[in-house]
Amino acid sequence: MLNLVLFGPPGAGKGTQSEKLIEKYQLIHLSTGDILRSEISNGTSLGLEAKKLMDQGVLVPDEVVIGMISNQLDSNKNARGFIFDGFPRTVAQAEALDRLLNTKASAISGMVALVVDSEELEKRLLLRGKDSGRPDDANPEIIKKRIVEYNSKTAPVANYYREQNKLTTINGVGTIDQIFDSICSVVDAY
Ligand code: AP5
Ligand code: MG
Repeated sequence: MLNLVLFGPPGAGKGTQSEKLIEKYQLIHLSTGDILRSEISNGTSLGLEAKKLMDQGVLVPDEVVIGMISNQLDSNKNARGFIFDGFPRTVAQAEALDRLLNTKASAISGMVALVVDSEELEKRLLLRGKDSGRPDDANPEIIKKRIVEYNSKTAPVANYYREQNKLTTINGVGTIDQIFDSICSVVDAY
């Protein structure tokens, strides 16, 4: 199985690159942000709770997202592999993911981390906020909060994979196709 963690701050291009990668490598795309937004649009109680936190730009509780990923792994038993996008976002989530994959006799193949400076991130997210309908994109203060949350809680996850020799960092600034080619050369080596 090919299990890729696509990592990076808000607006780094995780979702954009995941769409291309799932096509090329025939993987299942698991984006906790997308799953949470679909819970919100379906008006579930989980969605209602998550919305309050997401609209403020802060993380939802670990147990909520770990439960979602566990369900997705169970319902995609015959997958060739997964792209984890926006998960794991804390070290506790990374440890839980290892345990979940272990019970399926599988493991993370590697993490690709997209490196993009804060100025570029804010520019991309504000631009998307004009028509995305995502409340967390519309307000510069919320975008800043998401980046602060990333730096304090999520950035340490890269070290977790570095210690396992599974981390590759890639320049996330450039054209979408250039960045895709860089990611593919890493994935092809797995
Ligand atoms: P989530 O949905 O994961 O959002 P995010 O990580 O904050 O960032 P984005 O999805 O906005 O960015 P992206 O890296 O996917 O970039 P994209 O390709 O879209 O999370 C939202 C919220 O949900 C969190 O704040 C939290 O509350 C909650 N949550 C989710 N997962 C959680 C977890 N595991 N634990 C706890 N809470 C969780 O690109 C961004 C824009 O840039 C697009 O407009 C795109 O067109 C453009 N773009 C892409 N590539 C380029 C390029 N190369 N050049 C120029 N523009 C580009
Ligand atoms: Mg995304």
